[in-house]
Amino acid sequence: MLDETHSTAAAPLPDFARRRTFAIISHPDAGKTTLTEKLLLASGAIRMAGHVKARGERRRTRSDWMEIEQQRGISVTSSVMTFERDGIVFNLLDTPGHSDFSEDTYRTLSAVDAAVMVIDAAKGIESQTRKLFEVCRLRDIPIFTFVNKVDRESLDPIALMDEVSSTLALDLTPLTWPIGMGVDFRGLIDIANRKALLATERGGPLVREVPFETPEDLIDLEGVEERIINEAVESLTLALGVLPPFDLASFREGHLSPVYFGSALKEAGVAELLFGLGSVGPSPLPRSAAGERMVEPAEDLVSGFVFKVQANMDPNHRDRVAFVRLCSGRFKRGMKLFNPREKRNMAIANPIFFFAQERETVDEAVAGDIIGIPNHGMLRVGDTLSEGESIRFEGLPDFAPEILRRVLLSDPMKAKQLQKALQDMAEEGVVQVIRPVSDPAPIVGVVGTLQLDVLSARLEKEYGVPIRYEAVSFVTARWIVGERAEVDRFMEANRSSTARDRDEAPVYLARSQWVLDRAIEEWPKLKFVAVKERG
Ligand code: G4P
Repeated sequence: MLDETHSTAAAPLPDFARRRTFAIISHPDAGKTTLTEKLLLASGAIRMAGHVKARGERRRTRSDWMEIEQQRGISVTSSVMTFERDGIVFNLLDTPGHSDFSEDTYRTLSAVDAAVMVIDAAKGIESQTRKLFEVCRLRDIPIFTFVNKVDRESLDPIALMDEVSSTLALDLTPLTWPIGMGVDFRGLIDIANRKALLATERGGPLVREVPFETPEDLIDLEGVEERIINEAVESLTLALGVLPPFDLASFREGHLSPVYFGSALKEAGVAELLFGLGSVGPSPLPRSAAGERMVEPAEDLVSGFVFKVQANMDPNHRDRVAFVRLCSGRFKRGMKLFNPREKRNMAIANPIFFFAQERETVDEAVAGDIIGIPNHGMLRVGDTLSEGESIRFEGLPDFAPEILRRVLLSDPMKAKQLQKALQDMAEEGVVQVIRPVSDPAPIVGVVGTLQLDVLSARLEKEYGVPIRYEAVSFVTARWIVGERAEVDRFMEANRSSTARDRDEAPVYLARSQWVLDRAIEEWPKLKFVAVKERG
């Protein structure tokens, strides 16, 4: 079933068609880090598991503000890992795991073509998984499901599939199935490739392969207790009887998810997932440029967009790296790219590529690849880069912040530094900065409160600007959209509750939902919008 679409190194595919750019979404603790390590291991990118965390440690020591991450044990940064297997190049974008970072996560997910949803087999769908899944659904991203930790006491596989399917309104097709779970875990049935995968010793790696025609052939499987294999075959037969068969079109449209049972810790099911990602996972798709045209990955000219900016990775240098997802063309080191927002070209002299393994210097990248561009503030999240064409990719909106705070300086002499620091943080997407019309103290807006801690810690450490927050009497912000004269009239009439964002766009700060509803009613020619496209 899967073999039909499997692309190997031997097939003369264009380079972009060999790219699989994806993210792993999960609730904290479901096993994302472990699965990432094991995917890298299965691809041969690292020789020893534990590297991902070790790299994280090193990064932390380089960057002080990540103390917050250490204290809270969560990942606040996204990183990119590129690895290769069987001629397929995988770009794995790490999404921040904490619910507070929904905006950052949203932007990272806008840069991928597929996602792997990791579920803890004992817990089923948890809150964060669900939220992230909904974000993927907005874009109809195809989703692979990895049911992790089957080596622990788990829910029954059929009950689990049922819960996932009904909670998410998603069709599921199992591609691997557990032979026993918890202490009974003996191996997996690789349904797609018709073989059982077993350990030669209890708890060991699944190196023994037993081919089969139909699952019933596995009854009496040597080396597995009768009760365990019988139960596995019975539940698999039942599942296959009621669940839809794998359908590539339905999967690519985001309606059906192939399910892999496994244990990241024991490396069970990981190679099968990687094979699935390579064989049925989508290669880079065309992208809509501001509704004007579709940009095809096969086009000759380079285009891409910035989905993340990370500043001050090294506190000794005011460096800033923009992460760019390429959408078309063949990028080469030293190329000049046009930024339509700034209306100017920039030479990309020192792009960063993200290969997880050591290999000869890469100096080309194609659609689906991510490149890091060090710069001094020229690039913002949402910026498009192209070889001359004035296009803008959609899908990187700002969300109206629900948490607003006035920023007060502990040292009034540092007003200039604060302004610069806030501008940097806004460009990086850490916070939104809103300047009230009638008050010099800026207001910062965030989607989750953790961002406030990150902001104050970074302002102090990286810019030497200690700040305090003060509560404001506004509960939400909305962008005001309408004809200029009408907007001006509204701003004039509501001076104490209007502001401008960093692009000078007018913003209404509402004191309550009721007040917002009344403004909507009283100003029918205006729109008060909660989502603003960037650029
Ligand atoms: P996260 O990134 O999604 O937050 O999860 P992470 O991989 O860090 O895994 C969370 C915990 O679950 C870790 O245990 C990890 O070892 C364990 N784990 C992950 N996958 C499996 C699996 O397939 N089977 C079992 N039994 N455990 C698994 P920990 O004790 O919190 O951390 P550690 O000290 O082991 O690193």
